[in-house]
Amino acid sequence: MHNTIDERHSKRKSSAALKRLIENDLIRRVSGEEYRRKVQRVYGGPKGALLSTASLLSLHVPLGERLFRTRKYDLRGMKSILDVGSGAGQIAQHLLKYSDPGTEIVCTDLSRQMLHRARLRLKSSRPEFVTADLERLPFADGSFDGVTCGYVLEHLPDPRPGLSEIVRVMRKGGRMLLLTTEDNLAGAWTSRLWICQTYNRQTLMGMLEELGLVCRQELWFTKMHKAMKAGGICVELEKL
Ligand SMILES: C[S@@+](CC[C@H](N)C(=O)[O-])C[C@H]1O[C@@H](n2cnc3c(N)ncnc32)[C@H](O)[C@@H]1O
Repeated sequence: MHNTIDERHSKRKSSAALKRLIENDLIRRVSGEEYRRKVQRVYGGPKGALLSTASLLSLHVPLGERLFRTRKYDLRGMKSILDVGSGAGQIAQHLLKYSDPGTEIVCTDLSRQMLHRARLRLKSSRPEFVTADLERLPFADGSFDGVTCGYVLEHLPDPRPGLSEIVRVMRKGGRMLLLTTEDNLAGAWTSRLWICQTYNRQTLMGMLEELGLVCRQELWFTKMHKAMKAGGICVELEKL
């Protein structure tokens, strides 16, 4: 019995050591400004272009679409939706497809080039595209019924200011779909590839609750993702 506990303990320790080895820790080593410039360069350059193309071919888009198609994150009834860190419009394309016809859709990103790629992908005059930092959103308090935030939070050295901004622009009772990278081995590789950080699920949930966002449900792309606890953190939150 003791051996089993010891074995589990040492397995956890070696997995944590491996994660530390793989992870990219630039986000903790440089100033916030320097890191933001790095993110802009990464997404504005060839890697961002590659991401736009790769996400057309990868499972990322169809898996994300399941959340909207099955109405696990239900857009019906929302009059205004903000997609923060829209990138190449991977989530916005689902917003266009599954929201009510008159819903106002706003796409924001730190990178002008990524928004340009989103425009090319979406080929729609419906979304408004706004270049903005998540930490300084140019919208009035309570402007949006829904917010989607896919794989952006991992690019904030401290997630609190960005999350507070999201809470501010959401109306009371508004719902957010948040997807972010988890602190496991797959997350460590993502961190290396995209120079970002990873989150511990419990710690992040605690922080979200402190900011007035309660978890309505934990979401998984498929039953297999749920069984294997794979695919990162994906939750629906509600502003109290
Ligand atoms: C991995 S992409 C995610 C794209 C899309 N949301 C998705 O789910 O596939 C991350 C995007 O977040 C943007 N980003 C990073 N830091 C940001 C910040 N502080 N404010 C706004 N956007 C940011 C990047 O420019 C990039 O386009």
